[in-house]
Amino acid sequence: MGCRIAGCAKELPDLTVTNDDMSRIVDTSDEWIVKRTGIHERHIAVGETCTDMASAAITKALANAGIQHEEVDLLVCMTITPDTIIPSQACLIRARAGLSNAVAFDLNAACTGCIYGLEVATSMMESSMAQGSSEQKNPIRHAVIVGVERLSRIIDWTDRASCVLFGDGAGAVVLEWDEKAKGILSSFLKNTDDLDMLLSCDQHYDLSTFPFGDAQVETGSSIMWQGPNASHLDPERSTCGSIGMEGQQVFKWASSAMAEAAEEACKRGGISLEDVDVIIPHQANERIIRFAAKKLKVPMERFQVSIGSVGNTSASSVLMALTDAYDAGRVNPGDKVLLVGFGGGLTSGAMLLEA
Ligand code: UT7
Repeated sequence: MGCRIAGCAKELPDLTVTNDDMSRIVDTSDEWIVKRTGIHERHIAVGETCTDMASAAITKALANAGIQHEEVDLLVCMTITPDTIIPSQACLIRARAGLSNAVAFDLNAACTGCIYGLEVATSMMESSMAQGSSEQKNPIRHAVIVGVERLSRIIDWTDRASCVLFGDGAGAVVLEWDEKAKGILSSFLKNTDDLDMLLSCDQHYDLSTFPFGDAQVETGSSIMWQGPNASHLDPERSTCGSIGMEGQQVFKWASSAMAEAAEEACKRGGISLEDVDVIIPHQANERIIRFAAKKLKVPMERFQVSIGSVGNTSASSVLMALTDAYDAGRVNPGDKVLLVGFGGGLTSGAMLLEA
């Protein structure tokens, strides 16, 4: 209630890497990649940082919205590949983009980041703008939600099963408080414990100066393995510092998680899936979208499919696809738009909104 999308935009790094380019790096082919994923090419950030890409996307989104940088009260950045841990990615972007009045922080919900970020930002906006609250809380009239990834930095470029899937880029959306707008109609968020580490990327801690105990190197999953769920985990599967994925198992889960989230958000919003004008799913694999479409009995034409030219861009994916849908004239005032995400965590979710 009360917030509307005022503008959105995306930014891609300059380098385009085709499937034929990938076949010169690993044992793969354009035919395999297109048939199994729908991906034709992806963009890879060579010189561009997350700060560069996100700031550019935000500047374009604010221009589309007709809102000045200093009018932004909140910046939520969703990423799994921040340029630095401290300052947060959002703080770096705030400084670069000149969002001088924004409160800024990061949020990690992997590929579902867009849904979680929108939920947090719209909830903060609504509670701060509720009658009588503006004196107790930071008033948030304009919020920017940006998803940005430089996944090329955490890819094992020798692993053909994963390196062909991912790409870099940023997507941003500007939200404006508007009493009369219906805005967010409903949402659905869900977590499922990924005890088998189906989708993982280890954090690596160098403890060479740590004065207690004799550990020299520790990883996130080695901490997990000491815990109560140790029996579920296999230390040999740790791919330290790069994305590891059990593709088939994730595929199975993703197809049903996507369908569940779409159905639940519609149910909560009191509308039928048939009444949704456009569905913007996370772009992980075109086949996942087709599976979910079949399960939901919704024609593919109602889905925005953008994966062909960008690959899987994790937290940026839904916001970049939303931008594509706006640019293609697929989203008009009053339309019902359903955003759906799923990914690492495992996290899944959907948000139904009126444009
Ligand atoms: O954003 C987070 C969520 N992520 C996802 O949702 C991704 C979910 N998973 C997937 O999209 C798919 O499982 C993949 C695209 C990752 C893999 O497709 P698949 O149809 O499940 O292939 P597969 O893993 O069953 O592998 C089939 C064959 C194997 O060869 P054999 O054992 O049959 O001889 C693989 O070694 O394809 C082989 N293969 C490849 N061949 C050529 C795997 N990667 C490649 C490749 N090029 N890049």
